[in-house]
Amino acid sequence: MELRGRNALVTGGAQRVGAAIVRALADAGANIFIHYNTSGEAAHELAAEIRETGVAAHAGPADLSDPTCTPGLIATATEALGAISLLVNSASSFPRDTLADLTIDGLRETIDVSLTAPIFLTQAYAASLPSDTTGAVVNLSDSRTTSPYQRHFAYTIAKGGLDTFTRAAATALGPQIRVNAVALGVVLPPAGHDDDYVNQLAAALPLAAPGGVKPVAHAVRALLENDFITGDIVRVDGGGHLTTATTAPDA
Ligand SMILES: NC(=O)c1ccc[n+]([C@@H]2O[C@H](COP(=O)([O-])OP(=O)(O)OC[C@H]3O[C@@H](n4cnc5c(N)ncnc54)[C@H](OP(=O)(O)O)[C@@H]3O)[C@@H](O)[C@H]2O)c1
Repeated sequence: MELRGRNALVTGGAQRVGAAIVRALADAGANIFIHYNTSGEAAHELAAEIRETGVAAHAGPADLSDPTCTPGLIATATEALGAISLLVNSASSFPRDTLADLTIDGLRETIDVSLTAPIFLTQAYAASLPSDTTGAVVNLSDSRTTSPYQRHFAYTIAKGGLDTFTRAAATALGPQIRVNAVALGVVLPPAGHDDDYVNQLAAALPLAAPGGVKPVAHAVRALLENDFITGDIVRVDGGGHLTTATTAPDA
């Protein structure tokens, strides 16, 4: 699939991994709608930067902890750019909880942002895609769904659901729409942690270094472009999936 001239919606696109994906897709010639929640200033600055490269770019807010907003977000992005044929679900929360201290409200909120919102965004996106247009979705998952975090319990459950959703949606939406995921490992320090922290975590990996955002953006672009991959989950984790649940770093 040639990305040039296509319209993409990237959730959580204002900074960090999402912003790298925005830049990679703009570099491929796609027009971008940058979704944000609290990072409005960064999102609008990034949209202005992207427009300088010659593609169209807009930004708009939605709080995905209320997934009923998802059809409205697709409608807003479509109004800004035209039909959206590329969807990247990168927005996510990363709360700290364990099975012992998990609450029903906490679990619901994490599932809403990181699983229910991507599901219903995909539903609204698929319904809005013209029948003569192909499309592609990439979900941002976590390579630790198979060697679960103990201190990000709800998040891990949500990402495990996102993996299953990726496969189920690929089956439901083919042949018009391909659906894949990129499962990240130690890429960037989470909020409140510095590079030393992430370097220490990465020391346990086969590739012994944090990945940074570029390999993730590269993988997202490759999955959007490749017309014969659907229902796949590509790990970009420095080999982190080869470490066991007990020896893997737990942020
Ligand atoms: N960074 C890593 O090393 C790593 C590792 C494994 C998996 N991942 C996954 O890769 C993706 C990108 O990673 P990241 O580190 O860039 O993520 P992040 O910084 O933790 O979050 C990305 C964005 O999600 C948005 N978000 C959070 N709560 C939201 C809500 N209620 N409604 C709407 N948006 C909300 C935020 O947007 P605003 O800033 O606008 O509020 C935030 O900028 C995520 O899905 C993450 O789970 C990352």
